[in-house]
Amino acid sequence: MGVKLSRSVKGLTVLVTGAASGMGKATAEVFAEEGANVALTDLSAEAVECIAQELRAKGLSAAAWALDVSDQIGIRQVVDDVAMHFGGLDVLINNAGISAFCPIDDDEHYDAIWDRAFAVLLTAHQRIVRAALPHLRHSASPRIVNIASTEALGATSRDSPYSAAKAGVTGLTRALAVELGKEGITVNCICPGPIDTNMTADVSDADKQTFAHRRTALRRYGIPEEVAHITLSLCLPAASYITGTTIPVDGGLMARNF
Ligand code: NAI
Repeated sequence: MGVKLSRSVKGLTVLVTGAASGMGKATAEVFAEEGANVALTDLSAEAVECIAQELRAKGLSAAAWALDVSDQIGIRQVVDDVAMHFGGLDVLINNAGISAFCPIDDDEHYDAIWDRAFAVLLTAHQRIVRAALPHLRHSASPRIVNIASTEALGATSRDSPYSAAKAGVTGLTRALAVELGKEGITVNCICPGPIDTNMTADVSDADKQTFAHRRTALRRYGIPEEVAHITLSLCLPAASYITGTTIPVDGGLMARNF
């Protein structure tokens, strides 16, 4: 008979970046509802504190910290504070993100957009992992999930800074999974497809519908919770033999040709 592995994150502590909106917020809520201690972090302390208060009002365990993921010193402070506040850290969700469209021949803006994309979307991931590692090493069920994008697997014209940074996230995920596997730390990556969040709020409903109908198998945009539940699944103690993977949660976008 095999070992019985837990399907619960109850009592585990999870840190989510970019938790004020979209998939980060949904992820924080899903973990809190499952009984985890949730550390919500984002640029605005007020935004995450408001969500944390709502969760606490439901009897759930949540606290908020302001964290700009491109601030190297801030990362160390917040990660250590979170671990001290909840008495450890088990799960890290690297989710914070920005759009970074720019045509390759836009000499005026390209370098700045590239640098910002890499700082927020890729460099931040390794820095937060490095800050979290001393704490994760004390966990009985250490998990890291990086949020990349289907733009890491395919590409959209004029989106090369974003696409390159997100492809970097998939490489970083594999490399860290291999390096940290001997310690039982799993590192996986989710590639969301088109999801209804603030990031896609500029796209009109009509354009969303047309795109989703033409490109996804399910013919619709996804909602943040549909990504959050897959993230949760990768963080269960029972998800102990999956690492180094890149999982599209994209309504079948990557599977579909016509
Ligand atoms: P969103 O715009 O709703 O949320 C992103 C959050 O990240 C915001 O709360 C924002 O304040 C925060 N953030 C931005 N820069 C930050 C920084 N420097 N430090 C800390 N927090 C920062 O967007 P969404 O869609 O929920 O994005 C979540 C992740 O999913 C991002 O990594 C994004 O690239 C990725 N993604 C989104 C897709 C979509 O269709 N919405 C598709 C594929 C990937």
